[in-house]
Amino acid sequence: MSNKSLSADAVSCFEDSQVNAPVGRRGHWSSRLMFILAATGSAVGLGNIWKFPYITGENGGGAFVLLYLGCIALIGIPLLMAEILIGRRGKHSPPDSMKALAQEAGVSSRWKLLGWAGVITGFVLLSFYLVVAGWAVSYIFTAGSGAFNDASSDDIGGMFGALVGDPVASTVWGTVVLAITATIIIKGIRQGLERAVSIMMPGLFVILLILVGYSVSTGYFGRGVEFMFNPDFSKLTGTSVLVALGHAFFSLSLAGGGMMTYGSYLSKDVSLGKTVMTVGLLDTVVALIAGLAIFPIVFSNGLEPGAGPGLIFVTLPLAFGQMPFGQIVGVLFFVMLSFAALTSAISLLEPAVSWLTEKRGMTRFKAGVLTSVGIWVLSLGSVFSFNIWQNYTLFGKTFFDTLDYLTSGWIMPLSGLAMAVFTGWIMTRSATYEEVGDGWGYRIWRFLIRYIVPVAILAIFFHAIGVLD
Ligand code: PFF
Repeated sequence: MSNKSLSADAVSCFEDSQVNAPVGRRGHWSSRLMFILAATGSAVGLGNIWKFPYITGENGGGAFVLLYLGCIALIGIPLLMAEILIGRRGKHSPPDSMKALAQEAGVSSRWKLLGWAGVITGFVLLSFYLVVAGWAVSYIFTAGSGAFNDASSDDIGGMFGALVGDPVASTVWGTVVLAITATIIIKGIRQGLERAVSIMMPGLFVILLILVGYSVSTGYFGRGVEFMFNPDFSKLTGTSVLVALGHAFFSLSLAGGGMMTYGSYLSKDVSLGKTVMTVGLLDTVVALIAGLAIFPIVFSNGLEPGAGPGLIFVTLPLAFGQMPFGQIVGVLFFVMLSFAALTSAISLLEPAVSWLTEKRGMTRFKAGVLTSVGIWVLSLGSVFSFNIWQNYTLFGKTFFDTLDYLTSGWIMPLSGLAMAVFTGWIMTRSATYEEVGDGWGYRIWRFLIRYIVPVAILAIFFHAIGVLD
């Protein structure tokens, strides 16, 4: 259906054969590869390198990895397709893309709330994401200074405690991350986002491969492989399924607004199926390889894989301090983590900026500064959750945990459910068919998005709130 005689740029910029909404001069990716790099950049983040290894460690290894892969294949990838499809067909910021598609389908334009949920989730998520990203950036310098060399576990625990316990230091590093993110966003799609991902993503892949090479040389690679791929189902707990699903959402950047916005810059003549599969696959492979880089280093130093959130900031630095070339390996590791976090952070800021430029006619500069100031103020609450506000809790949760719980535990799964219902049941078959394309791939996607995804999300949800026990 796309007009192949026009260039991809012209098609995505001016052609609007699907919905009647006017299309202004919107940014768009210069190639399919750029979209893949940007979307993979969004997906690959702290979730892959910080969270996936530690939750795998906490949930006993192999069986959890299998559960996670199942969630990615059956729920995550179909939903990623749905989210990018909405963006590409709607061709606007998330609220207006949803509104346009709701009008096209002849249903209430209140569906635009689903777009708003994405914009708000991105905004809130970035406010606490940048705190952890700030720790990662600061650890490039801590590792480089040689502070981990021969340090004891108390020393290293103390260093991390001092960083998170110091409201000023955490604020400064979080501000650094936000400033870099905003600068990239303000420069626009071509000069900002595309340039950033085309430097950082290849950099990340190369460092990851160097680290795996190092990990193989520790002699404990086999132990790492066994830990990650030898399933022991007795190690799964009742909440493991929930953790696996929640993480599949988080890792694929589902319902955070970013994927929908990135989709709106994607040309019509790109095959959605292949492109989305590539992004999903790359995200999963990076998480698995990150585990294979980290666990052998942990085991070779006689350390525990189930250390929780401190795995990356305490356990690994302890290992870096003991091993040959540990100072260099440590710097490389935290550079990689920072690249991963930054390319995700830009996808969390872009939805709000795209809405402000589109609806309020603001320049990217003004929109970028305005949203960043708002996010910065909100981020203070998360910074303080680890120090001066650590005793202020709501239902036993700090401010940081509350935001994480509300977004990852509620808004994202519910938005996922709504997205599945919208693309599976409300949009016409011919509309989604036009986007996804011909063949068995479409039939599988439609079956999963109509039946499996909603039922699975609901079942897991009811289980979480104790109705299905
Ligand atoms: N996928 C990112 C990660 O794994 O760290 C986090 C994320 C980015 C979630 C963007 C949601 C989002 F919209």
